[in-house]
Amino acid sequence: MKKIFAANWKLNKTPEESRRFIIQLKNDLFQAGSFEKNFFEKNEIILFPSAFSLEAVSSLCAGTQIGFGPQNIYSEKSGAFTGENSALVAQAMRAQFALVGHSERREIFKEADQLLNQKNLLLQSLKMTSVFCIGETLQQRESGQTLQVCFSQLEAGLKNLNANERIIVAYEPVWAIGTGRVATIEQVQEVHLALFSQLQKMGFGQFQLLYGGSVKPDNAGALLKVPHVDGFLIGGASLEVESFMKIIKAGL
Ligand code: PGA
Repeated sequence: MKKIFAANWKLNKTPEESRRFIIQLKNDLFQAGSFEKNFFEKNEIILFPSAFSLEAVSSLCAGTQIGFGPQNIYSEKSGAFTGENSALVAQAMRAQFALVGHSERREIFKEADQLLNQKNLLLQSLKMTSVFCIGETLQQRESGQTLQVCFSQLEAGLKNLNANERIIVAYEPVWAIGTGRVATIEQVQEVHLALFSQLQKMGFGQFQLLYGGSVKPDNAGALLKVPHVDGFLIGGASLEVESFMKIIKAGL
């Protein structure tokens, strides 16, 4: 199975900065000779720029196998929803993916399970792939509810989805996001194994499981060895090509 390296740039990077990133990334990937020709047979790169930079990312990724998409979409394709982003418009910009349910969306913007489910259903109807984020808060972990919370987010968010279509699930413990406090290997192992079995029980055939939360060049190698960790959703360390590349290289 391919390893996925997904970059969540959050509210960072102008279109020009996004362009510069991709020029340097393409140079490192294709020209510097550091990667095998068949790199994309074994790996997948997905960039999540802010919506205003999507067009710039799209034009620079054209003709490459670098995937991309918005960090959020609304649950309706179009209509009177001032300020929202349309999956249909993103698709017109050739986006193949979208993040759904990032903990910052759940917490700061109060997005609830039902809305996230509608977003996942819309993406599936457009043949786009959701990178659906789930994860527990520190309080939930400390009170022993980690798996229960993750399973209920999965059940609610993936309700009525066609289990034969591709889905990417990103396990991101909220307390590990942007904190420098990465989950231990044992914690990641336990949750990923449980999520793997749960998704199978739910009938999903084509899914990949990402870990996210303070992934850095120095912890990426060990995390990638954990069974059922198929790649990463990377925030802070994806903002510079150098650290992003080091994480990718940790998986080679
Ligand atoms: P981080 O963010 O790598 O900066 O912890 C991950 C994420 O929010 O997806």
